[in-house]
Amino acid sequence: MVESRALARWKALGHPVLTGQPPVLQNIGTEAIETLGELMLYDSTISPRKNQACASCHMPYAGFSGPIPSVNLTMIAFPGAVHFRAGKRTPQRHPYSPFFPVLQYNQEQGLFFGGNFWDSRATGYKLRIPDAEQAQGPPVDTQEMGFPDTACIAFRLSQAAYRPLFEEVWGEGSFDIKFPRETARICATPGGAAVFGGNTTPLPLSAGDRTRANIVYDRWAQSIDSFEQSVQVSPFSSKFDAFLAAKYTLTSDEMSGFKLFNGKGNCNSCHLDGRGTSLKSDQADTSAVAMVNPLFTCFGSANEGVPLNPGNAFYYQTKPDSYGFIANPYGFGYRDLGLGSFLRSAFGSGPNPNLKWKQYAPTVDGQMQVSSVRDVASTPPQCPTSEAPGPYFQKAFFHNGYFKSLKQVVHFYNTRDKYAYPVTSGHCPKGTTEKVDCWPLPEVRNNIDMTSGNLGLTDEEENQLVAFLQTLSDGFTRPYLNSDIYTGACMKGGSAATQGNEHLIATPPLPPCASAICSVAPAPSPSIP
Ligand code: HEC
Ligand code: HEC
Repeated sequence: MVESRALARWKALGHPVLTGQPPVLQNIGTEAIETLGELMLYDSTISPRKNQACASCHMPYAGFSGPIPSVNLTMIAFPGAVHFRAGKRTPQRHPYSPFFPVLQYNQEQGLFFGGNFWDSRATGYKLRIPDAEQAQGPPVDTQEMGFPDTACIAFRLSQAAYRPLFEEVWGEGSFDIKFPRETARICATPGGAAVFGGNTTPLPLSAGDRTRANIVYDRWAQSIDSFEQSVQVSPFSSKFDAFLAAKYTLTSDEMSGFKLFNGKGNCNSCHLDGRGTSLKSDQADTSAVAMVNPLFTCFGSANEGVPLNPGNAFYYQTKPDSYGFIANPYGFGYRDLGLGSFLRSAFGSGPNPNLKWKQYAPTVDGQMQVSSVRDVASTPPQCPTSEAPGPYFQKAFFHNGYFKSLKQVVHFYNTRDKYAYPVTSGHCPKGTTEKVDCWPLPEVRNNIDMTSGNLGLTDEEENQLVAFLQTLSDGFTRPYLNSDIYTGACMKGGSAATQGNEHLIATPPLPPCASAICSVAPAPSPSIP
């Protein structure tokens, strides 16, 4: 349905005219490349068996995060093109991710800023746009679309209905590549299959054709980035944006929540709202609006000390699948060290292109990207909230989906240290309730951020913070493109504080952290149990 809408947009667009020096696609160049990106995002032929698109895990009605409530509630990682394989983290929202800068180490602060993905491994080092490099991950990620060779994307694009648009934007001759006869067969076989013996370029192309296929893959990435950055996907059209333009008055709960956000709650020190922070209640924020398009992130990373989530499907993928591929040979010996694993190029992340960064791994173990909180509360129009008793749409928050409501997220920031227990999830002491007055141990105990943890907020103040987060959903001042396509049911009942607790699984006794993760130099310090 979304695909046919996008195709109609393309047909209505007309043909861009290349003119000027340097040549520019005058008048409709912007819309042409954005529409191309949109067609790619919803194209399920970009997977070996033509059954998975980017949108399978990122739907507009959920702010482009995980679209299936039952998955968000339980296994949290979304199934890939090979349906019994799933990743290990929650799908991030991609509105505003094009605004993240290229990953850089700030030597004065001793901190990393930029990159995309929870662990920042899409650094942008080559294309100079992390979000574009991000788009080059899923098509060849064994747990996502899973092509065996990046040249398969050029091959499938050369057969796409929208190939003429690609050639109009990026040039005639883009697909002058001699694909060998076995291409169709190789590209229909999922990556990681034993037949490839670890070869990541099984398509036998000449050096020139390989380079041309690589260029097509760069164009794919840049086109998708342009759609994600467009005013359709990253539109700054929330209640809060209307408030900044003096076109909407925040309700008293929303306003109180805003004041807590850049006051007592201290959220603004990481999720930057473009204003100053006034920590004491007698301080009035008299600063002028310094930024009218705040992104609610500092582009940095932090370890908030989230408990390990034993519901994560990744822990259970320990046996070879029918292609001989094992997603996670370590089972519960897996620990998600986030940015630390990436800097070491260790298991569970990707290769780090900058050896000089590796030495800093122990200072960032457990750190994950500070998400923009824009659109964190987005839900389909017919299920107007993410919070029980609803009617609500079930979401999953943070990298491992441990939190099932925004109330739980805020309560965690507020009471993490007050109700800390030395147990794993599912083992809170009798008389306590997990996520209410018991928080299990953090998954990674290193580098825990102490900005929050015991904020002293009342129950009402927590709810006001949630009300404020809800003002950040796009689609208030203008309809949000394609947010109307959810056809499932809404959920009802229960309370936001214990939402999803009936699905808690008791964590098994944890084996020590696998050596492929925790013994890679420079090893985590202090060492991770
Ligand atoms: C099988 C589900 C799945 C598919 C298919 C998928 N994604 Fe994702 N996406 C995820 C997950 C999970 C993450 C977080 C992964 C991580 O951090 O390791 C993510 C992260 C992202 C991010 C990073 C956002 C940020 O702020 O850093 C962007 C952008 C994104 N995806 C876009 C895409 C695009 C474009 C495609 C298609 C080319 C795609 N995704 C296909 C699950 C999926
Ligand atoms: C020290 C920096 C820091 C502070 C302070 C902070 N956050 Fe966060 N926030 C993060 C990081 C890092 C993540 C992602 C953590 C993860 O996934 O493990 C995050 C994630 C979130 C998310 C979930 C986003 C998603 O996509 O699932 C919400 C909502 C949120 N924060 C709200 C808040 C609120 C409300 C406050 C104030 C009470 C706050 N944050 C304070 C760093 C911070």
